[in-house]
Amino acid sequence: MEYNYKWIIKPLLEWYDENRRILPWRENPQPYYVWISEIMLQQTRVEAVKSYFQRFTDTLPDIHSLAQVEEDKLLKLWEGLGYYNRARNLKKAACQIMEQYGGTLPPDYEELLKLSGIGTYTAGAIASIAFGVPVPAVDGNVLRVTKRLAGSYDDILKASVKKDLENNLRGIMPERPGDFNQALMELGAMVCIPNGRPLCEKCPLNKKCAAFQEGLTDQIPVKTKKKPRRIEDKTVLILEWQGKYALHKRSKKGLLAGLWELPNMEGAFDIHSMEEFLLESNLSVESVENIGQAKHIFSHVEWHMLGYYIHLKKPLEGDEFVWINRSELEREYALPSAFRYFQNKIV
Ligand code: ADE
Repeated sequence: MEYNYKWIIKPLLEWYDENRRILPWRENPQPYYVWISEIMLQQTRVEAVKSYFQRFTDTLPDIHSLAQVEEDKLLKLWEGLGYYNRARNLKKAACQIMEQYGGTLPPDYEELLKLSGIGTYTAGAIASIAFGVPVPAVDGNVLRVTKRLAGSYDDILKASVKKDLENNLRGIMPERPGDFNQALMELGAMVCIPNGRPLCEKCPLNKKCAAFQEGLTDQIPVKTKKKPRRIEDKTVLILEWQGKYALHKRSKKGLLAGLWELPNMEGAFDIHSMEEFLLESNLSVESVENIGQAKHIFSHVEWHMLGYYIHLKKPLEGDEFVWINRSELEREYALPSAFRYFQNKIV
């Protein structure tokens, strides 16, 4: 039997009207702002997104400017947010919108779904928040809140569970669909939180929440354990010659595709094997300094990195690297945050 969520509408909207956070894209929910913010919010907390959102929309104030932006500039605006294909998809979708929809986002769920990088969640969020279309927007927050309310042990990482919930909520969408969707997410972000004890005493829905009433909030939602992440050891090099630093462009396929990186090698080289490696290489080395270790966690892989600062006596031949100075690195080149620890040894 499908759970009926109709009863939550009134108390949830009342709670939202009292407790909602003031956010730039919420106060002015133009379709472009809703779109950009929702893509950013898929990977980052609201607080951190605010400044990225401001800078992004100041630099690229509309779909037209997004469609025309150079990739390097776009990636620089996205630097630190991760999942760089999301930024590339934004531009792709902006071009589709210029060509097929006369430069404005279509006010239609099915049409939105056809755009690059827009899935059911984002299409639902844009359609409901920007255009008032009565469709749900189911993200991790909404799955957690609703499964706790229903006392359901459904595995929220399963696509079918998300799909069934979307169909269920579609049947009860109220008059304020955008606020209803945001209220569910807001409750998930602020009260029915994912890590640590939820703040059930503050929840407007607690009287009829099965997980709260039965003491199951630490068991629901169920998420099947994913495969453990693969660990890759790497050695990262800062190659410096006369105030210029080497950057390398990653291949077009795979992790961090097509992004700039600091030169690096598979495996963890200790200082002895590093010196040995340098002796055998065609580098003319003035000095080598161990600059420490860093770890970066991606969704399926972890990089465990060691780094060396290598001061060169002579420039390196060949076109494997570009050589840039500090201010170019700061202003023009986007390095993925995986390299942040080592980048900070330069700038
Ligand atoms: N998380 C993602 N999108 C959100 C929104 N529109 N409101 C609150 N939390 C969110």
